[in-house]
This record gives sequence, C-alpha cells and structure tokens, in this order.
Amino acid sequence: MAVRERRARRALDTKPVEREKVDAMVEAMRLSASCNNNQPWRVIVARRAESLAAIKTHLPKGNVWATRSPLIFAVAARPEDDCRQSDRRDYFMFSCGLAVGQLALRATELGLIAHPISGYDPILIKQALGIPDEYLLVTLIICGYLGNDNSLLSEKQLLAEKERPPRREIGDSFFEGLWGLPLEP
Ligand SMILES: Cc1cc2nc3c(=O)[nH]c(=O)nc-3n(C[C@H](O)[C@H](O)[C@H](O)COP(=O)(O)O)c2cc1C
Repeated sequence: MAVRERRARRALDTKPVEREKVDAMVEAMRLSASCNNNQPWRVIVARRAESLAAIKTHLPKGNVWATRSPLIFAVAARPEDDCRQSDRRDYFMFSCGLAVGQLALRATELGLIAHPISGYDPILIKQALGIPDEYLLVTLIICGYLGNDNSLLSEKQLLAEKERPPRREIGDSFFEGLWGLPLEP
C-alpha cells in the first residue's frame, strides 16, 4: 500500500526520472481535490540543469542532500486563488497539501521518492524562477530514485533512512467525540 511504503528518504540517485513518470506525477496533482475546485497550485517542474541549479544554490546545510535530485517540483500558490472562509480559514495551503500528498503517493507507486521540504530561501528561489512575489513558495518536492550514497546526510538523517521517524500515539491526536478524549480502542 503506497500509504505505508511512502517515505521521505534522502539518499537519492542522480539518475534522471523518465518523462512518462514526470507526467504521471503531474497528473496526480492535477486530479487532486481542492476547495470549490479552485486548484490554486502553480508548479514549476525543474528538470534541466539551469532551473535545478537555481533552486539548489538556495538550500541550507540541512537540505544539502537534495542537491543530488534530478527533478524538483516547486509549488507556489496565493491566498486569493482559493477559498477564504470565516475564522481564518484560508484554504490555499490545504489544497496544495492535498495535491502534494497525491503526487507523493503516485511517486511511491512508480518506485520514486517525492520528498516535500520547507527548508529553503523562498525569496531567492522565487526570484531565480520568475515566480511573482505575491505567490508563496509553499514547498519544494525533491524527487528521484533511491540511491545508496549517504555522504550528504547528517547522523539524524541517516537514522531516518533506516526507520520511519516515530508518530504520536493515536490517543494523543485523535479524540472520541470531544476535544481531548482519547479515541477508544
Ligand atoms: C511541510 C513539510 C516540510 C518538510 N521539510 C523538510 C525539510 O526541510 N527537510 C527535510 O529533510 N525533510 C523535510 N520534510 C520531511 C519530514 O521530515 C518527514 O516527512 C517526516 O520526518 C516523516 O518522515 P516520513 O515522511 O519518512 O514518514 C518535510 C515534510 C513536510 C510535510
């Protein structure tokens, strides 16, 4: 099951991703649900040397592992392109998250890693890729085949390669009918 198999692995191979697989991931995002079908995501597919370099030069040390990636999706969106409802419910990030989730599961089915990151300089990358300033650079999806070169990984990242980082207990996050009541087994 893709939901279980999907992992945010970091030891990527530099081997390019086939055109059909890129198209399949684009389609997975395109078909995603969004508030009122607004589809607020705008996505730059960076697979050529120039656009990849424009992104990779603006990654912090903690994400240097991503420089091995042959394919990066830069997901941008702005609040006015999606539902804005009462009590601060701006849905553009939510809709983008759903679409990225679909892409990640499709990537897993295709034998690929699709690892979303938030650690990057959004202003400099937006400038380098020509993304208008009013858009938020919501995430970069670092994509590629799994490799076996761990040289760019920290100790903590090496551990996460071996084992999925732990999740909160069900009862800490899921409640039975009332806020704070742990879900019954
Ligand atoms: C919004 C978001 C931002 C993330 N940012 C980073 C990041 O900057 N660098 C990184 O190495 N991983 C990043 N991750 C990956 C998470 O660390 C990873 O999904 C989490 O540790 C759980 O591991 P798993 O996805 O393999 O189950 C991010 C994930 C999400 C959803």
